Amino acid sequence: MASGQKIPAKMTAIAISEPGGPRVLKPETRDVPVPGPGEVLIRVRAAGVNRPDVLQRKGAYPPPPGASDLPGLEVSGEVAALGDQISRWRIGDRVCALTPGGGYAEYVKVHAGSVLPLPAGFTHTEAAAVPETYFTVWHNVFERGGLKSGETLLVHGGSSGIGTTAIQLAAAFGAYVVTTAGSKEKCDACLKLGADRAINYREEDFVAAVKDATAGRGANVILDMVAGDYVTRNYEAAAVEGRIVQIAVQGGAAASVDFSKLMVKRLTHTGSTLRPRTVEFKAAIAAALEAQVWPLLGSRKIAPVMDTILPLSEAWRAHERMEDGEHIGKIVLDVG
Ligand SMILES: NC(=O)c1ccc[n+]([C@@H]2O[C@H](COP(=O)([O-])OP(=O)(O)OC[C@H]3O[C@@H](n4cnc5c(N)ncnc54)[C@H](OP(=O)(O)O)[C@@H]3O)[C@@H](O)[C@H]2O)c1
Repeated sequence: MASGQKIPAKMTAIAISEPGGPRVLKPETRDVPVPGPGEVLIRVRAAGVNRPDVLQRKGAYPPPPGASDLPGLEVSGEVAALGDQISRWRIGDRVCALTPGGGYAEYVKVHAGSVLPLPAGFTHTEAAAVPETYFTVWHNVFERGGLKSGETLLVHGGSSGIGTTAIQLAAAFGAYVVTTAGSKEKCDACLKLGADRAINYREEDFVAAVKDATAGRGANVILDMVAGDYVTRNYEAAAVEGRIVQIAVQGGAAASVDFSKLMVKRLTHTGSTLRPRTVEFKAAIAAALEAQVWPLLGSRKIAPVMDTILPLSEAWRAHERMEDGEHIGKIVLDVG
């Protein structure tokens, strides 16, 4: 292992002391991870907070085999040490990374293929808000859903970390974007980000609104994090040959579904979870993002929507804010 400045043996991390509410997130002293072949050690400066961290804290989303038990799926910071077989990265490089866990800590080890340079001009807190949602949206909307310029994307949860990313990326690549959100304030934020139509799902039926916005044609791709009774409604809101991509089931994993709509419209209903995918798979997404999306971030054509920045020691407050559901965009921990 090659390292620059002296790396301490111990670090402060935020651990899940037991499954439960936000207050189970407690500081602990842990060993600094040692990077193996193909891995880099990052001195973390900021860590993004994501809904899957909340599920993990509650005991509903265990880390995949071999991953850290600490929460945290994305970070930014500096490369502090290199395992064997690393050619691209140098000690001191400013980077951001998708992690399989362990981001709520002063140091984290990550496979080199999940590491990207900081987008030009980005602060660490901004960069830490990028990887999890950009990897997820890129794969599910563009690769799995096959969204093309000129098509219509329906994004549920438009004001979420995922939703704010999907709206901006889809608009930047020439799609017509329709989104749902739970308040006027959230809908207004979505419109500012580039959505062509924002539907307050508490006041309007999104199926009728999508039909209205698309001259009756429906959405070509639907990014859904709700499931439950949205499944049949998504089939109704979809265009012929539409693709529905499931990334979460917040409205219920089980549903009573009218499959006749799927057949008649020749729909494709697919889905995926990012965290357990292979390092090779994640490296391929990283390469696509660097080539096609990093220039858009560097020129500020698109940017993460920053809701709140809190110190690492107040990770519990970050989770409280996420669970209150008032946030718009990303919550980030400043690790210092
Ligand atoms: N599959 C994957 O690889 C993957 C990766 C990352 C994240 N995810 C999932 O993607 C979702 C968003 O993640 P995030 O970190 O961006 O979370 P977040 O910012 O907390 O957003 C959650 C969003 O879900 C919406 N929502 C929740 N229940 C709803 C319901 N019953 N009906 C309509 N909308 C509902 C909320 O919308 P309102 O506030 O407007 O109600 C909110 O915008 C989470 O479910 C997360 O687990 C999946």
